[in-house]
Amino acid sequence: MDQSGLPLLAVESLEAGYGDVRILNGVSIKVPSKSVVTIVGPNGAGKSTVLKALYGLAKVESGKVTLTKDGKVVDVLATKPHNLSRIGIGYVPQIENIFPALSIDENLDVGYVQHAGKSLSAMKDAMYQRYPDLAGRKEDRAGALSGGQRQMLAMARALMSEPDVLLLDEPSAGLAPALVDQLFDELVRINKSGVTILMVEQNARRALEISDYGYVLDMGKNRHEGDGRKLANDPEIVGIYFGKR
Ligand SMILES: Nc1ncnc2c1ncn2[C@@H]1O[C@H](COP(=O)(O)OP(=O)(O)OP(=O)(O)O)[C@@H](O)[C@H]1O
Ligand SMILES: [Mg+2]
Repeated sequence: MDQSGLPLLAVESLEAGYGDVRILNGVSIKVPSKSVVTIVGPNGAGKSTVLKALYGLAKVESGKVTLTKDGKVVDVLATKPHNLSRIGIGYVPQIENIFPALSIDENLDVGYVQHAGKSLSAMKDAMYQRYPDLAGRKEDRAGALSGGQRQMLAMARALMSEPDVLLLDEPSAGLAPALVDQLFDELVRINKSGVTILMVEQNARRALEISDYGYVLDMGKNRHEGDGRKLANDPEIVGIYFGKR
């Protein structure tokens, strides 16, 4: 918690949808600084819509989203999407999360936000160190990458802005099982390096296991919430929401 008492990111009573169709009916999510928070729930529950609403990709009807740093409260919904990385929010969408026609190196350029002391090349070097698979292919078109490498690039692009909070929509989707393990290890490392994470995951149990806190959304509403590991092992939650996964 910040001195103001507000978590780093707070979504309050969010109502949002597409056109005239209301999808979110008052969703509230709190993401304390340095935590990992996961949103799970059935297909179509509105999980992606929560993240999309922050980026003007869904139509917000009411509610509030704030980012609170050093006692300063920023109204996220009043901030233009292209300025969100500047104020400390990074986003990896569920699909179309890289620029396929650009090279790997150019994708990283796009993600860069200037911060005191960190040059573009220093940031790119750090990403290539973190993701050696990308380092060998800097000039290749991003569209030529495998699914796993695309996810890496999408993550690296988002990290180029040195976000305070990283919003991840289904980071493990489409990855081979061995890569899923790597991905969750990687998320723990990113979090330990000081980045707060809010993710949406189908791989509910795995995601909740590494989460400080979890939310179950259903039909655009908060249904359950609690300690991540407790939710991951709660027989009722497991039975209803992810027993068969
Ligand atoms: N651009 C859009 N225009 C119209 N309806 C949309 C749009 N995007 C999503 N929806 C609808 O909004 C509802 C919630 O979608 P959302 O993508 O938020 O669900 P989700 O919980 O992320 O599901 P999934 O687990 O399948 O990713 C769904 O009924 C979906 O069909
Ligand atoms: Mg989704």
